[in-house]
Amino acid sequence: MQIGSHTLENRVFVAPMAGVTDRPFRQLCREWGAGYAVSEMVTSRPDLWDSLKTSRRANHDGEPGPIAVQIAGTDAQMMADAAVYNIDRGAQIIDINMGCPAKKVCNKWAGSALMQDEVLATAIAAAVVAACAPHGVPVTLKMRTGWSQANKNAVALARAFESVGVQMLTVHGRTREQGYSGSAEYDTVAAVKAAVRIPVVVNGDITSPEKARDVLACTQADAVMIGRAAQGRPWIFRDVVHFLATGQHLAPPLVVQVRKSLLAHLLDHYALYGELSGLRSARKHIGWYVQGLPAGPAFRKSMNGIDDAQQQYQAVADFFENLAASHDRMPVAAASGAVTGQVHTAAAFDPKKSVSLSG
Ligand SMILES: Cc1cc2nc3c(=O)[nH]c(=O)nc-3n(C[C@H](O)[C@H](O)[C@H](O)COP(=O)(O)O)c2cc1C
Repeated sequence: MQIGSHTLENRVFVAPMAGVTDRPFRQLCREWGAGYAVSEMVTSRPDLWDSLKTSRRANHDGEPGPIAVQIAGTDAQMMADAAVYNIDRGAQIIDINMGCPAKKVCNKWAGSALMQDEVLATAIAAAVVAACAPHGVPVTLKMRTGWSQANKNAVALARAFESVGVQMLTVHGRTREQGYSGSAEYDTVAAVKAAVRIPVVVNGDITSPEKARDVLACTQADAVMIGRAAQGRPWIFRDVVHFLATGQHLAPPLVVQVRKSLLAHLLDHYALYGELSGLRSARKHIGWYVQGLPAGPAFRKSMNGIDDAQQQYQAVADFFENLAASHDRMPVAAASGAVTGQVHTAAAFDPKKSVSLSG
């Protein structure tokens, strides 16, 4: 698959998730087979660009290309400026967020709320495309199926975005009104795919290789994007890629392999956030890995009592060493979310509370 001049490794992508898909997590997913990773959204408000949170989000050290940065905001000129700011800091693809219920920016709702105002949404896309064109940087956009059940306007918007030069669209099969409730539907994604010539990526509730295959077949989309099902189970990318290529399932990864990968992720995480802040934000990742594992819930709880990065690291190392003593491969229960079709929301994300864009 191509986005502008960039050739992607495969058609299984990791979804942008604020507070999750930081650079260490994106690299982890790429190592486990994801063909493409978009960063967490960065605000278009220049007054927040120097904040610690935004500068961490703009950290791409050692990340395999193409570097894709997602921007969010409600003002066309500010979004254009934000695109150029990120290009100057290494972005090779700019993704516009119209898919996530983002917190108020400039006293207006950004993200998927923009779908309600088709004129403004199109003007933003046009301004960002115009700003990126001189740099040879393609613009992509992520949206939902519409504002509400009564206003599923993804097809009209997709045509408008294509006409102003957006080069790829990702569609999450829910309306903004739905938040994360109910199930994703793919008919609207199929209608978007049929309406445009640019590549379309299907997203929402893709939790297993079979589901990826079926969703690709029913939408004719060019790629799948996986978010929550990769939390604590980043090898889902390798599983899906292999299944799409061969129709065969891979065996679960070796416990020693997962141990090594998770410990490397923890070190990378501490290095980006600092030990104190890092050990706290690492707890959610550790929790996702161990839920469903033997003794996982108790271990997860015990993590909250540890306030030292070295101790956290050692506890995780020991937990997986013990697991390796009784299991060669990751127990299937760890992948139960995928089997049952559930995803790990794990209280990590309450769309009603919305995602903070601020520093
Ligand atoms: C914790 C969390 C943070 C998210 N942050 C973003 C974001 O920054 N930008 C965005 O476009 N979508 C964001 N999303 C939406 C996801 O990219 C994706 O569309 C959604 O989770 C559905 O895919 P899934 O069922 O595979 O998780 C977020 C979702 C979650 C769970």
